Amino acid sequence: GKVVVLFGGRSAEREVSLKSGAMVLAALQRNGVDAHGFDPAERGMIELAQGGFDRAVISLHGRFGEDGTIQGVLEWLNIPYTGSGVTASALAMDKILTKAAWISQGLSTPDYVRLEPGFNVDAVVKRLGLPLIVKPAQEGSTLGLTKVKTVEQLQAAFELAFKYDPNVLAEKFVSGQELTVPVMGAGNSAYALPVIRIQAPEGNYDYHNKYIGNETKYFCPSGLTPEFEAEVQALCVKAYQVLGCAGWGRADVLVDEGGKPWLLEMNTSPGMTDHSLVPMSARASGVDYDQLVLQIAASASL
Ligand code: DAL
Ligand code: MG
Repeated sequence: GKVVVLFGGRSAEREVSLKSGAMVLAALQRNGVDAHGFDPAERGMIELAQGGFDRAVISLHGRFGEDGTIQGVLEWLNIPYTGSGVTASALAMDKILTKAAWISQGLSTPDYVRLEPGFNVDAVVKRLGLPLIVKPAQEGSTLGLTKVKTVEQLQAAFELAFKYDPNVLAEKFVSGQELTVPVMGAGNSAYALPVIRIQAPEGNYDYHNKYIGNETKYFCPSGLTPEFEAEVQALCVKAYQVLGCAGWGRADVLVDEGGKPWLLEMNTSPGMTDHSLVPMSARASGVDYDQLVLQIAASASL
């Protein structure tokens, strides 16, 4: 049937999505799939409805793409789509709700507070210590995120995050190793792919070090002990199941200096660019980029 690859969109991660989508589209086409690119920001939902598509591959990131909204449109149009459904997408897009869900199930995620305009700076610093992280609840690719090192920086960090989303959180900083773990499948059959260990310049895995620079180092195999790798994978599968994710996703994790893993967030429409992590991990498990794309496309459902 006719496949639509949705990419672009109107979130702050539009540029990343344009790259992900172009690569996904090319992979489908070179494997003989009748795939068509579609940027919902440029063409709109009526054209999507009238396109005669049999399934949708979502390569949108961030709001209006990863947050349940486009998933809701596709439900209405009766077009099976890749990745998580409406509820899990919306939940995972919001880091505050995600953390609340994980904490309720006893999963480790760094302590946090929601910051409202007029928040008490001293109380936040007293609770979380310094440095601390301030970020918008609904954003990706570290956009709007600040590592706050002094009390004086906290207000400006809040104002920056607030520009992206009125829901802002401050989170305890975890110093240690950065890991990311793709998870595939759904429910009881969900499983993790190999862990990737990330070493960014000065431990700063920001937008530049994610997509632009080439100084970030990735290790897959991770170099962790098999026991610890398995522990982290099990934690990420649990984190995915608690949110009700399906299809595929990617959990970001920090490991503190005592060796304890902390869940940071779940991405329900991870990047698929040439710098991206799910393809890297899949490759380590013997699945190349094209096979991964075909597998994700085949998992589309309503
Ligand atoms: N938010 C970006 C696209 C990622 O997680 O890969
Ligand atoms: Mg993210």
